Amino acid sequence: MPSASMIDAPGKGAAAPGDVHVSANGGGEHIDERHGEVIIRVRDLSVGFGDRTINKDLNLDVYRGEILGVVGASGTGKSVLLRTIIGLVPKRAGSIEVFGQDFAKLNEEQRRMVERRWGILFQQGALFSALTVKQNIQLPMREYLDMSDRLLDELAILKIEMVGLKPEAAEKFPSELSGGMIKRAALARALALDPEIVFLDEPTSGLDPISAGEFDELIATLQKTLGLTVFMVTHDLDSLKSVCDRIAAIGEGKVLETGPMETMMASNHPWLRSYFHGARSFKGVRSSREPRDGNAPASIGSA
Ligand SMILES: Nc1ncnc2c1ncn2[C@@H]1O[C@H](COP(=O)(O)OP(=O)(O)O)[C@@H](O)[C@H]1O
Ligand SMILES: [Mg+2]
Repeated sequence: MPSASMIDAPGKGAAAPGDVHVSANGGGEHIDERHGEVIIRVRDLSVGFGDRTINKDLNLDVYRGEILGVVGASGTGKSVLLRTIIGLVPKRAGSIEVFGQDFAKLNEEQRRMVERRWGILFQQGALFSALTVKQNIQLPMREYLDMSDRLLDELAILKIEMVGLKPEAAEKFPSELSGGMIKRAALARALALDPEIVFLDEPTSGLDPISAGEFDELIATLQKTLGLTVFMVTHDLDSLKSVCDRIAAIGEGKVLETGPMETMMASNHPWLRSYFHGARSFKGVRSSREPRDGNAPASIGSA
């Protein structure tokens, strides 16, 4: 199961925070004059499997506090890029710095300290089916925090409410939840350790347009409230339009274009043209979210 690797890895003996000091800003913080701190910096990245090259000389900056949407044709390597950034897929060349630190150069203890600063919602296997929502959310907490069960329960309920679920959802199993609720519960688990970055892989795929729209609003609200940086792989043009500050379009193993929606719309690249101006684009199709944008502000507690 792909999601297993980060969270159900057997505990290696809890390292007390502070044992290994990885400074909050790291040694090599990068600042972009226009956008501020570069929280993820990818340079000349090449990734491949066997004789196949997936990403080649890929460059990407993600800025602290933004919601970056990552788009590209199916199979172009969006998920591979995400998984390479978080250290699950080995790279062949290039460098990746997160929080100003090159993951590849850290020892295991230091990696653990970096890993607890991000949360992940995988494309598949959002939750462990044999565990309740509460137990799912508490998995990363149990791995990294030394807390009483009572505190862990309170924390889990807090996260559950934060993503707009009712406290009763805590004792439910994933099979008892709707698709939208599962995504919310998985988001609660991604937020378990108060991360600075959240990685989301196709979070609204499989949801009906209304649930997808509500999930997008939740992401935008949480991003503002918690000051998160969001790295979101998505096919959802509505998501790109309504919540993403910036978009990175991936193709031919590289980042073809980055910028706000206007930049994407103005691009002459054939894939971007067909994607952003094609039949499924919003040209002529009113976004299902437009009416809501003007009405009620997104609320964390609404579900
Ligand atoms: N562990 C792996 N071993 C071999 N090939 C892989 C592996 N993971 C992904 N791939 C291949 O890499 C390509 C990009 O995959 P992926 O990043 O999942 O695409 P997408 O952009 O749709 O998320 C696909 O052709 C996929 O089959
Ligand atoms: Mg994918």
